[in-house]
Amino acid sequence: MFRSWYATCPRGAEPALESELRALGAKGIRSSVGGARFTGEREIALRACLELRTALRVLEPVGDFPALDADDLYAGAASLPWKELIARGQTFAVSASGRTERLVHTHFVEQRIKDAVVDQLRESAGFRPGVDPRAPDVLLVAHLAKGRCSVSLDLAGELLSNRGYRIRTVEAPLREALAAAVVLLSGWEGKTPLHDPVCGSGTLAIEAALFAARRAPNAARRLACEKWPRTSAEDSRVLGDLRAELQRRVVEPPPILASDRDPEAIAATQANLREAGVAVRVFQADARDIGRLDPPGQLLLNVPYGERLEAGGRKQLKTFYHQLGKSLRALAGHRAAILSAGEDFESAFGARPRSRHTLWNGPLKSVLYRYQF
Ligand SMILES: C[S@@+](CC[C@H](N)C(=O)[O-])C[C@H]1O[C@@H](n2cnc3c(N)ncnc32)[C@H](O)[C@@H]1O
Repeated sequence: MFRSWYATCPRGAEPALESELRALGAKGIRSSVGGARFTGEREIALRACLELRTALRVLEPVGDFPALDADDLYAGAASLPWKELIARGQTFAVSASGRTERLVHTHFVEQRIKDAVVDQLRESAGFRPGVDPRAPDVLLVAHLAKGRCSVSLDLAGELLSNRGYRIRTVEAPLREALAAAVVLLSGWEGKTPLHDPVCGSGTLAIEAALFAARRAPNAARRLACEKWPRTSAEDSRVLGDLRAELQRRVVEPPPILASDRDPEAIAATQANLREAGVAVRVFQADARDIGRLDPPGQLLLNVPYGERLEAGGRKQLKTFYHQLGKSLRALAGHRAAILSAGEDFESAFGARPRSRHTLWNGPLKSVLYRYQF
């Protein structure tokens, strides 16, 4: 059925999400902060779950009602057709965001909606569904804004960003969808070699490798909608076809390198790579000793920003940015995309970026700088 859907993404990643949606064949794409509405057949939404790199959730809207206070919220939530959406024996959970003037506590909003769903199902269908906040069969996502509440079902049931390959992390890991946004916004097309010389737990290199191999990041994942009463049979059939199609699309990626000076980071990256099943050359090195790629290619970095600064650390970090700038500028013909949350980065690095783009790493404002050396 042709209808409207909504995909959410990290703040700042909207342009990348929009081009991904366009490439999938989605229609009527309209971005807003942290997501985009789109229209299309159900197959497009299922494809979006498997293929989108920058999305956090793909949502199927089920209702929208006034929510000025707790009574409105309860009445609105109780008016939705839960009997068709949650089957006997299934569990559900509610995840809320946003606020209205009188509804400002997310936990309270979740509780009220949950009560409305349980009461309505008990009265209309004669059973009481279980609540499972960790792995629900049906995840309801509620968003409050401008005095209204919109309720949707999360097709995947869990954040698409949790790809499952990250079994070890070191300090300040990027969430996978944000790392994917950095890869896409860098402008790299996945044809030339790539190196992340401050790889941490390897998220950027792994997302780059998945992209260059044209591998859908969530192709293997079971989606929540495969268990939903209304749609499970048809969705499972469509998803089976899509998974086979995506498998045929995989290509051999160019050389991808990841290095860090910290042996812990190297071990974490190696463990995560094995889990993701991608080939990346990993080695221990200081980023300032970086060498040329052959042929020249893309450098992708999420530079340290002083997550654990000790006394005098800020000066040390500026010196590091300055020395890194010198080493990277020597790599004529290469391009770099550098994500930094540090205020001192741009001037200390000492090169003029071709562009700057703001991306939010949760509450942390970062800037993605693009350079051509
Ligand atoms: C912000 S973290 C990168 C996080 C990574 N993007 C992830 O998702 O896990 C920065 C990394 O830079 C590394 N680092 C700091 N100074 C370095 C240097 N001089 N050479 C190489 N790596 C360095 C740290 O060990 C740390 O792993």
